[in-house]
Amino acid sequence: MAKSTYSEEPMHSENRRADDRYLAKGLATQCVHAGERWEKQTFWTSSTPIYHSTTFFYDHVQDLDDRVYYRKPGYVYARSGSPTHTALERALATLERGEVCMSTASGMAASHLALLTAGAGKEGLILCSTDVYGSVYTMVDNVFPHLGAPSILMDFTDLDRLEQAILRERPQVVYFEVVTNPMTKVIDAPAVIELAHRVGATVVVDNTFTTPFLLRPFELGADLVTHSVSKFLSGHGDVLAGAVLCRRKDFDCLHDMLIQVGCTLGPNEAWLALRGLKTFLLRMERHCANALAVARFLESHPLIARVRYPGLPSHPHHAVAARIFPDGRYGAMLNFDIADCDQAQAFRFLDALRLVLPATTLGDIYSLIVNPARTTHHWLGEDQLAAIGISAGTFRMSVGIEHAEDIMEDLDQALRACRHSA
Ligand SMILES: Cc1ncc(COP(=O)(O)O)c(C=O)c1O
Repeated sequence: MAKSTYSEEPMHSENRRADDRYLAKGLATQCVHAGERWEKQTFWTSSTPIYHSTTFFYDHVQDLDDRVYYRKPGYVYARSGSPTHTALERALATLERGEVCMSTASGMAASHLALLTAGAGKEGLILCSTDVYGSVYTMVDNVFPHLGAPSILMDFTDLDRLEQAILRERPQVVYFEVVTNPMTKVIDAPAVIELAHRVGATVVVDNTFTTPFLLRPFELGADLVTHSVSKFLSGHGDVLAGAVLCRRKDFDCLHDMLIQVGCTLGPNEAWLALRGLKTFLLRMERHCANALAVARFLESHPLIARVRYPGLPSHPHHAVAARIFPDGRYGAMLNFDIADCDQAQAFRFLDALRLVLPATTLGDIYSLIVNPARTTHHWLGEDQLAAIGISAGTFRMSVGIEHAEDIMEDLDQALRACRHSA
């Protein structure tokens, strides 16, 4: 772990701890209440207001001094937090069962901050899964090495090779996503965490795809968790946000790092994310049910060559998924190949959709679809795409919360249209 050069003392991170009033409650209750109304005012507000002020001060300068000089919990300057941030961070820490949560300006900022906090640097090798979000891949492969921080990227589904690499290279940081993009591989997270801890590595899990609805990485021993809050947690495609969470207090230097890097979330975004979080459980239940229905429908469709959804027994990692995800829920992300589909036909299919949105994001209430070869993985050469299993006719879908029959009807009519209008 990187030690703060500024201070060993936590700064105001008391504000970002899990909300212990709700830790023993159910997930639905946590989504609705955690983080709200934890500081007594002369009146209560049902939802935490948006604090636009950059600056906080007090009747007596001693109170300011306590916060700046003695670093007691409170607010001084919005880059290091406001009550709006606190509400969101407490809610996320509660859902993930983390000690501390820092919200960030984007999911990318969260991954960057987590890698710095975990000690990536000249002496701190990053061992990262090849199946991570594209910009994180580039950051680990290019940005950190350019600054002198070495990295190795490899396939985390081959546990024997991973074990050899971990024992040989003794990384400082091990970073991965549990369900991968776009092929929906499922990484055996408990096994990877156990291997990483054998050499004392700090484990960072990006829980964006899986979310605390499917998996809580801290319960498996992960040290840091990151999120693109822009996705399922906020859920409405109207906010760009991220979060880093720590399992233990000794990662409190994360707060100093956030202040020094300056990737603070805006207060409007913090409020929107918290607002979205209220319905997180309801949305996830619906996402998962719809995704399973759509996956089964596509698997039986005559124009579809292959469907990859961890909830289908035909998925190569179904057994791992069934072991690590509780309650038979497998998330909203799936992947499928249209049979004998070239680029022109793929575009005709996307253009023919009337309900499902051909857009590059995921995790929204809307069903979303992309052609990875032309979007998320466009920079890869044909051989690299083929090695991953991506063809012109491969699609990644984030199944939304619409009426399931309507999603299937839309996919069906677009599949037929793209075949007929050649
Ligand atoms: C798994 C994952 N992690 C991180 C990110 C980056 O998040 P953001 O777009 O909020 O910066 C994304 C974005 O799609 C993602 O899918």
